Amino acid sequence: MISIRPETPADYAALHDFIKSAFETADMFSGLEEDFVSNTLRQKDRYIPSLAFVALEEGQIIGHIMLTHLAVQGRENLKMLLLCPLCVRQDKRRQGVGSLLLRHALQQARKQGFEAVALAGNPAYYGRFGFSRMDGFGLHCQPAVPASYALALALKEGALCGPAATINF
Ligand SMILES: CC(C)(COP(=O)(O)OP(=O)(O)OC[C@H]1O[C@@H](n2cnc3c(N)ncnc32)[C@H](O)[C@@H]1OP(=O)(O)O)[C@@H](O)C(=O)NCCC(=O)NCCS
Repeated sequence: MISIRPETPADYAALHDFIKSAFETADMFSGLEEDFVSNTLRQKDRYIPSLAFVALEEGQIIGHIMLTHLAVQGRENLKMLLLCPLCVRQDKRRQGVGSLLLRHALQQARKQGFEAVALAGNPAYYGRFGFSRMDGFGLHCQPAVPASYALALALKEGALCGPAATINF
């Protein structure tokens, strides 16, 4: 049976290796994902421990997701999150684990009052959860990623309407 719980500091070392290995087989990867998580996303101005989850099966980590604070220049009041990373152990892919983690994290984010989520990822995957191009909402990101991979989702109706703004990934 698969269970989901928030990550804890006791998971950090294992997650570093887990993320590294999961992204070695990703469609797109920089090779720096695990360090970005440890050195940037878990820093105190960005980290939200209650929105970082592991999926477990028989006590083993088989998936991980994090939502962290994201500043939006030009829409300072928008409660925006970055979704990064989402990863599933290679032998457990295409069995719904990624979808389970994503739906769980989005539901918890909504409950905690966050209004929108941004990410850099494949629209063929994230489109099914309602993500669409952020430039359709007047949002652009730095550093730039191909426009079709720069995606956003409103957790609250109308949350993404507003003046042109820049997201700093
Ligand atoms: C992307 C990832 C998280 C998906 O997790 P998963 O548990 O395999 O996904 P699910 O089982 O919930 O969903 C599977 C569906 O998504 C599709 N899918 C999976 N990965 C995809 C991808 N990279 N691009 C497009 N579609 C993808 C599958 O075709 C499948 O579709 P189907 O149900 O119509 O057959 C996983 O493949 C992974 O960890 N990849 C490496 C890390 C990565 O790339 N993360 C995303 C960074 S933005």
